[in-house]
Amino acid sequence: MHVLVAGGAGYIGSVLVPVLLEHGHKVTVLDRLYFGNSHTKLAAELGPQRLRVVRGDIRSFDPKILEGVEAVIDVAGISNDPSCELEPDLTRSVNVDGGKRLAKLAWEAGVRRYVYSSSCSVYGHGEGLGLTETSGRHPVSLYARAKAEIEDYLLELQKAPRASGPFEGVMLRLATVFGLSPRMRFDLAINVMTKNAYVNRRIMVDGGGRQWRPFVHVRDVAEAFALALLADAKVVAGQIFNVGSNTNNVQILNLAFRVRDAVPGTEVVHAPTDPDLRDYNVSFERVRRELDYTTKRTIDDGVREVLQAIKDGQVDPDDRRWYTLKQYVFLREAERAMADLGVDGRLLTAS
Ligand SMILES: NC(=O)c1ccc[n+]([C@@H]2O[C@H](COP(=O)([O-])OP(=O)(O)OC[C@H]3O[C@@H](n4cnc5c(N)ncnc54)[C@H](O)[C@@H]3O)[C@@H](O)[C@H]2O)c1
Repeated sequence: MHVLVAGGAGYIGSVLVPVLLEHGHKVTVLDRLYFGNSHTKLAAELGPQRLRVVRGDIRSFDPKILEGVEAVIDVAGISNDPSCELEPDLTRSVNVDGGKRLAKLAWEAGVRRYVYSSSCSVYGHGEGLGLTETSGRHPVSLYARAKAEIEDYLLELQKAPRASGPFEGVMLRLATVFGLSPRMRFDLAINVMTKNAYVNRRIMVDGGGRQWRPFVHVRDVAEAFALALLADAKVVAGQIFNVGSNTNNVQILNLAFRVRDAVPGTEVVHAPTDPDLRDYNVSFERVRRELDYTTKRTIDDGVREVLQAIKDGQVDPDDRRWYTLKQYVFLREAERAMADLGVDGRLLTAS
């Protein structure tokens, strides 16, 4: 199958694209490459018949790149709460307008399967334990509200009659992801706690630590997307699935203790912050029952692998690009400098 992966050079995309290639798919990546291009080597090895990377924006790309595409996976966008708060108008333009544009153009181009990376954060301040896909959504951030808006949009598109045949939108509400990726993220709870334990021998816990959060390994997420691409339309079209595992619902303070135990000499400290409004404990029964999906990696596996990669120098914990907010702040400042001081698109280099 020819699959277009929007955001395919991000944290999830960088692990997902090789998995799709392993499954025999042809892949086109559409990405702004804000965090670099993790696929340069693979694309050169495989050639454009198997893997093509297009630097482009979901808000403005040429719809021609959808020609021949049979499925789209949308993992593009501004991907955490603080980065979304940085410039709310930009967030709405990318995560809402861009997300809708991509889906609409895919719909118009006759793309059949469309898999969207929603988030368990749509539950926000969840009521009770074991939230299911039919539980109420209570998003508490701009980021999560944008996710809910795209879910609603895809459900509308799903209903619209189309001459080229059915449109099969699938929404995966991902738990918070952890584990190693070529585009690393040290702003995700397990990864950042592991990094801080190793580098500072100290883990900060925000918001009291009693709040629940579900977690899932990045490779397990990639497998979920691969499954959603091929699953029976009768089971997945127009459907929402929480992606993760019941056993990986953890209270943040307990998570900190688990990471602390992996790095001797680490202390856990409460940060003097407001309560974390995000508090959700999620059921992953539906995806197990209907798609026969189970995760294979534990939280401890993730902590071990991230720790080892830092120790081995395989990943540099000081690289700005691995901190989503820092990288977006840097890009915003670079853009301002270019606007203030640039001549013919240059700042310093001789023309
Ligand atoms: N990582 C998680 O814990 C998690 C959990 C739930 C949902 N999600 C969702 O999964 C998706 C991927 O997350 P991630 O962790 O890989 O984030 P990421 O920030 O690493 O990846 C997002 C990618 O989108 C690209 N991008 C940003 N704006 C773009 C635009 N206008 N046009 C084209 N590309 C653009 C970036 O360059 C980046 O490569 C996001 O939508 C995120 O909200 C992630």
